[in-house]
Amino acid sequence: MAKTKTTFFCQNCGAQYAKWIGQCTSCKQWNTVVEEVVQKDEKPSWKTAQNRHQKIAKPLPIQKISNESETRINLLDQEFNRVLGGGLVPGSLTLLGGEPGIGKSTLLLQIALKLSIKTLYVSGEESARQIKMRADRIEPNSEHCYILTETKTQNIFQQIATVEPNLVVIDSIQTLHSDYIESAAGSISQIRECTAELIKFAKESNTPVILVGHITKDGTIAGPKILEHMVDTVLQFEGDRNYVYRILRALKNRFGSTAELGIYEMQGNGLREVNNPSEVLLSKNDEDLSGTAIAATVEGMRPLLIEIQALVSTAVYGTPQRSATGFNAKRLNMLLAVLEKRAGFKLAAKDVFLNITGGISVDDPAIDLAVMAAILSSNADIPIASGVCFAAEVGLAGEIRPVQRIDQRVLEAEKLGFSTIYVSKSNKIGLKNTKVEVKLVSKIEDVVSELFG
Ligand code: TYD
Ligand code: MG
Repeated sequence: MAKTKTTFFCQNCGAQYAKWIGQCTSCKQWNTVVEEVVQKDEKPSWKTAQNRHQKIAKPLPIQKISNESETRINLLDQEFNRVLGGGLVPGSLTLLGGEPGIGKSTLLLQIALKLSIKTLYVSGEESARQIKMRADRIEPNSEHCYILTETKTQNIFQQIATVEPNLVVIDSIQTLHSDYIESAAGSISQIRECTAELIKFAKESNTPVILVGHITKDGTIAGPKILEHMVDTVLQFEGDRNYVYRILRALKNRFGSTAELGIYEMQGNGLREVNNPSEVLLSKNDEDLSGTAIAATVEGMRPLLIEIQALVSTAVYGTPQRSATGFNAKRLNMLLAVLEKRAGFKLAAKDVFLNITGGISVDDPAIDLAVMAAILSSNADIPIASGVCFAAEVGLAGEIRPVQRIDQRVLEAEKLGFSTIYVSKSNKIGLKNTKVEVKLVSKIEDVVSELFG
């Protein structure tokens, strides 16, 4: 029998050590280094299951390589397709990460049930009956969707060889284990080995594989960073569990842009695609409320109008509170400092709370001006006229800076019936004959006098 070989791995970043140490020298985390048994076996397991001979790759001139495999698989889910960059690439490995309970299993099962290609949904977390119950809630059950509850990769490959699916979903990578590695399921070396086996399978059979990955408390995908390096695409499913909206974004995509965004709404019968996000994210208030401003942002290729709410109140304690939901708190502090210094507002003794409605988070700097407008409106307790929106960045000198894709933002504002949009003087508007009045401003003081007189 081969001698058992052990190595020490950091469970946080995947760094490898010859002996145990208390603090990982690579990611500086304490007590994350764990001993794992690694047993090398040269035989790749999915080959053994299939009993094939090993092919040896040869170099080819680049012109000779066919690119017909570029035809993508339409997942019949517009949002998912868009985030992937136009559908699933055959032979690709996609990792879907997200917090527990956010809806990863629901999303993938829903897609598997809709598709007319043969899909194998492998679950290591739920029983077949549980999955069936969930499936009954979502969609009429498709005859092309196969469910397998199994965690051993060798057995999974055996079943794949008999079912011959066109798409494999693994829920989740942390529950899988391979016979060639001794350590427990979910450990670094197991995750690495199982992913490597799946990659080999995907690339050689040209079958796409979607993996579900758990994420840790600090929001990164559990397991080594190398997991993210190994797969072709990393998607993140996020959202506040208290809200119904869920956002799918690409963190890495070898076949498309990472700027795209998919929006879903969690309902009693699964996730519904939200194709007109601006309309759902804006609350329909007839009364004008102070402290609310609308920002025209762009997520990926899609313009999106969002509502920003601010509450400014007198600080009870010595140090005023500043809190932001869905917006960078440091950036909020910066904008408040600009208002103090450049526009003369005394906000130092005020608590400021900021909230982006719908539970979504935005890092587009073009919402700066709307954030400031919401704060000023709450501070003065004067509502901003309905039909007004904003699309500009604010600099440290209080100057209003231009933003990209301004035409798209103006068009979206027009589509939703807005009458006025504030943009930077330096923005070149290519549009002619818009129904929206475009107000060009260059300093924050101009905006203050326009809005609050
Ligand atoms: P789930 O897909 O199990 O999450 P994950 O796999 O990411 O852990 O989602 C579970 C949540 O979704 C659960 O709290 C209930 C909710 N849900 C609905 O609201 N409607 C539905 O139709 C389904 C299937 C789930
Ligand atoms: Mg799940």
